[in-house]
Amino acid sequence: MTKGVILSGGWGTRLRPLTCTIPKTLIPVANKPVVERQMLLLKKAGVKEIILAVSVMDEYLKNYFKDGEKLGLKIHYTKEESPMGTAGALKIAQPYLEDENFFMLNGDVILNFSFKEMLDLHLDYGGIGTIASRQVDDPSRYGVLIIDEKTQKIEKFLEKELFNPRDINQNTMPVNAGVSLLEPEIFTYIPPRKKLSIERDIYPKLTKKGLLYHYPISGIWKDIGKPHELLNGNILLLKELLEESKNYSKKIIAQSADINQSVRINPPVMIGEKTIINESCEIGPNVIIGDNVYIEKGSKVRDSLIYKEVYISENTKINKAIISDNSLIRKGVEIRGNENNLVILSSYVQIQDNLKLICPSNTSITVCHHEVVKEDII
Ligand code: GTP
Repeated sequence: MTKGVILSGGWGTRLRPLTCTIPKTLIPVANKPVVERQMLLLKKAGVKEIILAVSVMDEYLKNYFKDGEKLGLKIHYTKEESPMGTAGALKIAQPYLEDENFFMLNGDVILNFSFKEMLDLHLDYGGIGTIASRQVDDPSRYGVLIIDEKTQKIEKFLEKELFNPRDINQNTMPVNAGVSLLEPEIFTYIPPRKKLSIERDIYPKLTKKGLLYHYPISGIWKDIGKPHELLNGNILLLKELLEESKNYSKKIIAQSADINQSVRINPPVMIGEKTIINESCEIGPNVIIGDNVYIEKGSKVRDSLIYKEVYISENTKINKAIISDNSLIRKGVEIRGNENNLVILSSYVQIQDNLKLICPSNTSITVCHHEVVKEDII
């Protein structure tokens, strides 16, 4: 039976300070860890066993998923003392993956497509690997795939630094979507105990031999590498979930949430379990609030993500921000990012009464975990 290996051991430096307290793949998207959403999609395609390739902050992942029983999956963990790169990490998982083909995923991508269809196509092609490709407008940030349209083989694999957009006269290009379906034969191309990147060190060798194919995906695809991608990805996923469930009110509000009747909700909005929102608040558009959040009267939140167990006191305004779990925002605070820069508070942050945290046009504001902010940041 096809298994899944999910790379979940990167540092997540671009998402700091959020990733100082939450490993990147456990970061919630629409109130569920990004990697949990991937596991559920794999399960839908018939995958029963998953190998989580972990490294830094591995205890957080093990505590969260344990042996996978709660999700109806069997989860194994492989461990690198320090990150071994995407191919090095895969090599360590080899003992679990020698019998049959397997999916390999970057654990930090929001996606929603049929893994089953990808598997069927891979079997038809008969290559060593099939890589999910996604057409994008701005390919220079990703690994670009040059495809032979007749055979659907990948001719070249150009990592970001090798790609010059001026060389190619096209507006959109297919890029590596961070999901592959591989045959165990791939292990003969990966030497043991070496830090290696599968995209840079292994795939280019296989494309030269004509052994890699692609599978074009549609629907949502967003890696959560940077804060504004994380915010946009959450909202895109929320919209897709609303559409899928034909939810025309465009609000997903947990049954146990307690929302005062006078609260104005501007969709799309998602509100988690046991969250309480008091009178005269205004929530949305584009807001996702986690479980057990408390918002006092007269507060306004828009274009923001609020993680679980956050306390927001009265008459606070939050716009273009990501507020991590267990933070406390005291009354009259104004938090405001802008189109390109967000205000990001890590876990257990406190913001004192009546302060302003307002991003200038060219920098974001980040506050590290457990910090107490006592003066304006403008
Ligand atoms: P940045 O430090 O912000 O670049 O993030 P990152 O460390 O997560 O790197 P990147 O975005 O390139 O990683 C893509 C996926 O591969 C993520 O799910 C990472 O957790 C995972 N990953 C990256 N490097 C390693 C590694 O050396 N070992 C393992 N096990 N996973 C990795």
